[in-house]
Amino acid sequence: MHGLLFYGLYEQLTAQGDKVRSLKTAKADKADVDAAIQLLLKLKVDYKEVTGQDYKAGCPPSGTAVSNDRQSENGGEEDTVDPWNVATNSAKGVDYDKLIVRFGSSKIDQELVDRIEKVSGQKPHRFLRRGIFFSHRDMNQVLDAYEKQKSFYLYTGRGPSSQAMHVGHLIPFVFTKWLQDVFDIPLVIQLTDDEKYLWKDLSLEDCHRFAEENAKDIIACGFDVNKTFIFSDLDYMGSSPEFYRNVVKVQKHVTFNQVKGIFGFSDSDCIGKISFPAIQAAPAFSSSFPQIFKGRKDVQCLIPCAIDQDPYFRMTRDVAPRIGYPKPALLHSTFFPALQGAQTKMSASDANSSIFLTDTPKQIKNKVNKHAFSGGKDTIEEHREQGGNPDIDVAFMYLTFFMEDDEQLEKIRQDYTSGILLTGELKKMLIETLQPMITAHQENRKNVTDEMVKQFMTPRPLNFNF
Ligand code: TRP
Repeated sequence: MHGLLFYGLYEQLTAQGDKVRSLKTAKADKADVDAAIQLLLKLKVDYKEVTGQDYKAGCPPSGTAVSNDRQSENGGEEDTVDPWNVATNSAKGVDYDKLIVRFGSSKIDQELVDRIEKVSGQKPHRFLRRGIFFSHRDMNQVLDAYEKQKSFYLYTGRGPSSQAMHVGHLIPFVFTKWLQDVFDIPLVIQLTDDEKYLWKDLSLEDCHRFAEENAKDIIACGFDVNKTFIFSDLDYMGSSPEFYRNVVKVQKHVTFNQVKGIFGFSDSDCIGKISFPAIQAAPAFSSSFPQIFKGRKDVQCLIPCAIDQDPYFRMTRDVAPRIGYPKPALLHSTFFPALQGAQTKMSASDANSSIFLTDTPKQIKNKVNKHAFSGGKDTIEEHREQGGNPDIDVAFMYLTFFMEDDEQLEKIRQDYTSGILLTGELKKMLIETLQPMITAHQENRKNVTDEMVKQFMTPRPLNFNF
């Protein structure tokens, strides 16, 4: 059935391409040509969303092709963005506008930010004001429904691959906490200890232990226990018949060819990996949590996540209507750059690339001073004369994530660009922003007891009437 669906779209696209060409040849009215092109573009976006592949004239979908996400169309110049790798050649980082086109998502533009402000009645979070959450799917639909008193819920997650979390890991949680506060909605957080067991050389017990340790850092972000359910897959899957039923439904409706296309699995990947995407899909359906949604299967889900998780949710959105559920909406964030530069994201496995949530003020200071890639000039004289480049400067990038005051940030950008502000001074500002932030996090985490973790992780009703 899926092959047919692909093929139907493919034929429609081919026909529309022919139409555009013939209109152009016939020198038809500009309005008619434009309308035909609009439809063509829309079909291409649909095609990409359904197949995970770019439409190519003359190449019908075989269902076996590897997604273009990992193939490069321009001789190795394309950014790599998938759940396992993030890499680009550009010091400015990944080209996110291109990624929106490649993934077929939509840009979070000023209009949408204004709308979120209007509907929530709150000043938009700095991550929205500064384009850190930059892409979405169906956010307007979520807001339309919310305005008509139709609520929704939030779903996000974390793969607990080690004890050590870094500041980059907090981005989706900090933003999710804000969404929960301003919209007053339930939140589920999936800890994929099963995923990490399947992908990494770790024991099941270690992965499960990391899930509980990571839960403490997540709870320390300030989530409301009455509105939040955190779960380990290893625990919840076995205890919730409804959750497992949804996993099986997804498994039945996605073929090996499709996951190969979306994730690039090969014949030698273990079968656990091949079926795992169904487990990350299931929390996007409200019926997976009967204790929260009282059996309702139609509550809309909104998923804030980093853009590398999008392949999972392209798949989820594709199966949803075929198993009778609404498609989850998405908000995508950019990556948190490594200290060494925005060519890649922070990695917990490289101590010098990251600021950890356990770092002392002294370690933070040393790492920033030693390792943060600078967009400044080599000598003070040169810097004063020519100025620095904030677009490739990691200290400046980090300040855009964490400094709350827009005007102060803008002043720093100008002063750095003009050469008034030196690299050492900029780094000092970052250090002084990070130190109290990390210390506060450590205090909050210390106050998270095992009892609290248990409370958050127990399946139970939340403070909402569904
Ligand atoms: N796969 C994600 C990771 O490795 C964890 C995850 C599960 C997740 N469900 C999610 C992330 C939903 C964002 C949203 O980190």
